[in-house]
Amino acid sequence: MIIRELDDGVVIRRLDAESAGTWRAAFTGAYQTIFSGHPYYERYYPSEAEGIFRKLVTTPDNVFLVATVGETQVVGFGVAIPLAAKISVAAELTGLVPVKHTMYLAEMGVLEQHRGRKLGKVLVSDRIELMDRDNYSHVVLRVSTTESPSLQLYKDLGFEEMGVYTEVSSMRIDGRVKTDRRMFLSRVLSQVKV
Ligand SMILES: CC(C)(COP(=O)(O)OP(=O)(O)OC[C@H]1O[C@@H](n2cnc3c(N)ncnc32)[C@H](O)[C@@H]1OP(=O)(O)O)[C@@H](O)C(=O)NCCC(=O)NCCS
Repeated sequence: MIIRELDDGVVIRRLDAESAGTWRAAFTGAYQTIFSGHPYYERYYPSEAEGIFRKLVTTPDNVFLVATVGETQVVGFGVAIPLAAKISVAAELTGLVPVKHTMYLAEMGVLEQHRGRKLGKVLVSDRIELMDRDNYSHVVLRVSTTESPSLQLYKDLGFEEMGVYTEVSSMRIDGRVKTDRRMFLSRVLSQVKV
């Protein structure tokens, strides 16, 4: 389903089970490219990125957006799922947010050549707008503590630091498994200006 068309020809689409197959390969490529760069430098094999895609697109209540150019290219993505579906993160935030009524901004990325044109902000605000407000009251996410543009982006959209940190281990592009520090941000859904 087309959510909106931006001035530069980029189209924001929401994926569902039916349309997922059309964009799977393009998503996988964009995912690998984006996370191999700053600030994450992570290595994902195609099968891993595809597994992440399948899991997210089949999670109930997901909001899965892709920013596309033409009929085949994915230049950005933003995915939200219920926090309860992300068990490792839910365990860390239990008692701090109402887990059953919280959405988790699971993934976001924009290809380097499309950055700095508000696509990231659109991918956050459109996801929030599409969340089921009858069932969800809070939104959380985690972001690298290494200097990165996304922290300011989320703060501009009303997210606040929770004072909770976590370590994430992943395979880096040099082939080593390294751990990096991420901080949690949260926002009350009803107060987010979209
Ligand atoms: C984070 C990311 C999605 C932002 O995408 P984007 O399309 O460039 O975002 P926007 O154009 O909406 O920019 C939003 C804000 O980010 C900041 N920003 C964007 N590009 C920047 C740059 N080159 N340098 C510094 N800040 C920058 C600004 O605060 C900007 O707000 P402003 O335009 O009002 O000044 C993109 O940089 C990315 O994919 N990064 C790698 C993956 C990642 O970090 N994902 C986030 C995981 S939580």
